[in-house]
Amino acid sequence: MVVGAVVDAISRIARARRTRGPWGAARVALERVKPRPRFAADYVWFLLDLTQDTRPRPALPDGFELRAGTLGDLAAIQELDHELVSTMTKRLMRDRLARGATPWLVVAPDGRLACYTWSFEGSLPVHGDHRLTLPDGVVGFEDAVTSAAFRGRRIAPATWSAVGTRLVERGAYAIVGRVDVLNESSARACGAAGYVERARMRVVWRDWRILVQVALPPGDESHAWLRDVKRAGPRLRRC
Ligand SMILES: CC(C)(COP(=O)(O)OP(=O)(O)OC[C@H]1O[C@@H](n2cnc3c(N)ncnc32)[C@H](O)[C@@H]1OP(=O)(O)O)[C@@H](O)C(=O)NCCC(=O)NCCS
Repeated sequence: MVVGAVVDAISRIARARRTRGPWGAARVALERVKPRPRFAADYVWFLLDLTQDTRPRPALPDGFELRAGTLGDLAAIQELDHELVSTMTKRLMRDRLARGATPWLVVAPDGRLACYTWSFEGSLPVHGDHRLTLPDGVVGFEDAVTSAAFRGRRIAPATWSAVGTRLVERGAYAIVGRVDVLNESSARACGAAGYVERARMRVVWRDWRILVQVALPPGDESHAWLRDVKRAGPRLRRC
């Protein structure tokens, strides 16, 4: 496919040179390499205020246990069989752990992994090498997956709530996470946990770069830090 596109571009440029001269060829070449929108995805940033006493506190079913994960849990995590875990490797997991991120696992009484998510402090991977800088006390959640066998039982909201309670003990006051606007199940799970929409984000993939645009509700700058999505420096690896 790539070879075909290159051959097509060269023949168009050669034809333009024949019919429109060198400037015409230059214009066609520029047209081929200039960034063009290819694909855009829209996300909602949700925030859970952990200081609110009235927030919903969905509980895990009896016998289900929450614990922090380790590298040794990778095989069980991969068995969740979802695209969000298919890219999880030992290297990526080690990298995240080294940065202080925590994988959280909820295990059913029969030992099966029911739900899994990551919490990040300091900064949260957003797309490619783009990261959201998190203020102190705000923890970012990413990659939540409930095993297909356990969906629809409020396990994800209960997991976020239980992790939130642990994080409050470490000084956290809020959790943020982003959800694809097309992911209705996730948005409903967030609502059940008490998350509230705080911002919208559009990610645009162009020919050779990713653009991240965050929009806050007009007139409300209370979560202006959500705009702080930056490309990581060369020393930070892709997440
Ligand atoms: C999104 C997800 C984590 C929710 O987990 P959960 O533990 O099932 O959460 P809930 O029980 O609160 O269900 C949330 C919604 O999922 C939908 N749902 C219910 N049963 C379902 C099932 N068997 N399969 C798929 N979706 C189901 C319902 O719309 C439900 O909302 P409702 O009960 O108010 O109608 C889970 O569906 C999942 O792992 N999805 C794939 C990965 C993903 O999208 N992760 C989110 C990344 S932000």
